[in-house]
Amino acid sequence: MIYVVGGIKGGGGKTTVATNLVVALSLDKRDVLLVDADDQETASDFSAWRDERTEGNAGYTSIQLTGRNARAELLRLKDKYQDIVIDTGGRDTTSQRAAMSVADIYLVPFNPRSFDVWTVEKVSRLIDEIKSINPDLECFAFLNRADSRGSDNDDAAEALKDEQAFSYLDTPLVNRKAFSNAAAQGMGVLELKPEDSKATGEFMALYNKIKKVNNNVNNKVESNVKNKVISNVENNVEKGKK
Ligand SMILES: Nc1ncnc2c1ncn2[C@@H]1O[C@H](COP(=O)(O)OP(=O)(O)O)[C@@H](O)[C@H]1O
Ligand SMILES: [Mg+2]
Repeated sequence: MIYVVGGIKGGGGKTTVATNLVVALSLDKRDVLLVDADDQETASDFSAWRDERTEGNAGYTSIQLTGRNARAELLRLKDKYQDIVIDTGGRDTTSQRAAMSVADIYLVPFNPRSFDVWTVEKVSRLIDEIKSINPDLECFAFLNRADSRGSDNDDAAEALKDEQAFSYLDTPLVNRKAFSNAAAQGMGVLELKPEDSKATGEFMALYNKIKKVNNNVNNKVESNVKNKVISNVENNVEKGKK
């Protein structure tokens, strides 16, 4: 499964979500590749730090990939890993488009505090454009750095629910120190000791939703393959009759 964590605004939490997703998948014993497609290299810095802290047992492989070549490289890597998670930069870049063009799932965190409808519309337009070359891309938005209470969340959630280009995942990640504390130690929030049970609970809720989406995508792919096999068999039977 290829996941892209994207959006067109810096600071939304792309790297936080991408690195936590990679850690969660690796804890699930998946063979994962983290692709840093942002020239700011925050995800690579995280991985280097994690490698150092774990003495080389980060649990996943990490590479950097930006620019026009990204699509061809990703297609080559696709079958070598069970999962690929791609962290993208803060703008609508060539790398983000390349990643979206080969991905299965596009995840966009939105920050309700600095929420603007203009950004949502731009993301929607980007998705619409990419869908013309990758119609099977499944797109999801959710809140990150949400307030634990207050109306900002609801306003942002309403605006996200209104969009056609993506589905809204009602599993917000609240603004919690645990995320930056974990990152500072080269860890995912699930690994942090002492555990922040609210942060892990919220992250697991999001992660479980993503796994559900993943199952649906797999079923779709399987049934496409099955249909293809059935239609091939039928074609052969037809040919045999002739
Ligand atoms: N849920 C969260 N709670 C608290 N801090 C967060 C959360 N998500 C992200 N951050 C912090 O916000 C900053 C920007 O997040 P980052 O993941 O780097 O965004 P992006 O990659 O989209 O630019 C970082 O300092 C990160 O630690
Ligand atoms: Mg980032």
